[in-house]
Amino acid sequence: MNNLLIQGGHIIDQSQGIDETGDLLITDGTLSWLGQGKTTIPRSDYSIFPAKGLIVCPGFIDLHCHLRQPGFEEKETIATGSLAAAKGGFTTICCMPNTSPTLDNKDSINYIKATAIQDGAIRVLPIGCVTKGSNGKELAPMDKLASAGAIGFSDDGNPVPNSQLMRQALLHSHTLNLPIIDHCEDTSLFLGGQINEGSISLKLNLKGIPNTAEEIIVARDVALAELTGGWVHIAHVSTAGSVDIIHRAKEKGIRVTAEVTPHHLTLTEEKVIGYNTNAKVNPPLRTQKDVEALIKGLNADIIDVIATDHAPHTTANKMCDFNKAAFGISVFETALGSLMSLVHTKRLSMATLISKLTCEPARIIGDKHGKLGTLAIGAPADITILDPNYEWTVDANTFISKGKNTPLDGSILKGKVMATIYQGKLVYKDSQINLIENNMEKVNNE
Ligand code: DOR
Repeated sequence: MNNLLIQGGHIIDQSQGIDETGDLLITDGTLSWLGQGKTTIPRSDYSIFPAKGLIVCPGFIDLHCHLRQPGFEEKETIATGSLAAAKGGFTTICCMPNTSPTLDNKDSINYIKATAIQDGAIRVLPIGCVTKGSNGKELAPMDKLASAGAIGFSDDGNPVPNSQLMRQALLHSHTLNLPIIDHCEDTSLFLGGQINEGSISLKLNLKGIPNTAEEIIVARDVALAELTGGWVHIAHVSTAGSVDIIHRAKEKGIRVTAEVTPHHLTLTEEKVIGYNTNAKVNPPLRTQKDVEALIKGLNADIIDVIATDHAPHTTANKMCDFNKAAFGISVFETALGSLMSLVHTKRLSMATLISKLTCEPARIIGDKHGKLGTLAIGAPADITILDPNYEWTVDANTFISKGKNTPLDGSILKGKVMATIYQGKLVYKDSQINLIENNMEKVNNE
């Protein structure tokens, strides 16, 4: 395996409190040396990645995405989804179990792991179902899913509607020390909802989804987490009220963590005007007041991580009547560029953004799958290199993901991933980057 020296980049690694210019050496897939200033590099057989002017950080980790395999391979596969994720700077992604069949037994978890090793560009960690078939009626064999390698449990796409079942799931979560990742939605309030409830839903004559539909279940879940000592992770938080409830729960010491998506942090309900189905997502895009509360909650560590909820769909799933269109946005390839708008407008620091994409999700996954989210010596060389100021225009047709469903098509974003390294291997490189080849190796091979 080639050794690589990443030279002269701005290294940001919140897991070690590093925020300075330096060099990083990768040998045999592992981070072997980090040097600042004029320290001598311990060997000379390496290629050089010139990183001056670029940010070098741990590879991004996504706790929430949909890879659609098995069952919906026309929307995405583990191969296409993981490559798209690599282009977006991710080196670890956790996939949701709403596939067909669902990931509700040991064999299906093993299938994801084996397919990921065979076809995947990066690390893919499966999430198991809370209930069999995600049907909300009977618990899945959570202990078996955990021992097969599930990093948590979710019926995402749907909530766990029955409180007694959620209580039992949280008791298992306590024993297994793994989170129940709940898609918080009161189904009776949601019923037939299409977009955020408010003036725009009235104007467009579309059924609205009130904030309360989410908040009722967030409140129930933290109450049940308190009762059971279980760990609830609130998926895709979208409302100011949810941030308040999570804040109060954390103050009380209840075991709750939470995530927010790039789209809920940067876009509002106005995006659906004109019946733009590519902005139809669940939970729906909300108001500017909600967006501001989410950003504040992220900065205050009430929200622990940013997760993409990458939800690819076919063009046919979206080019139809708004009421019939699928919920979801293809996010991997725009995540960094859209989030950088928060850094450029000084609402989020670069260091916070990176920690919410790296060491914070790593903390939630734990260390069972290796030392993730860090540039510590001896850790797997999972690295993202980005240009914070590079301006580019989103063209969904150039996405690696099969899902071209983005409301950002045609938008100009400032900030782009230039390279992604997974276990020492360059799995994505922007065409502008030219490596300086390893002369030593050439000499040795001649
Ligand atoms: O918009 C969404 N799409 N929200 C979800 O919770 C599920 C996801 C999907 O699977 O398409």
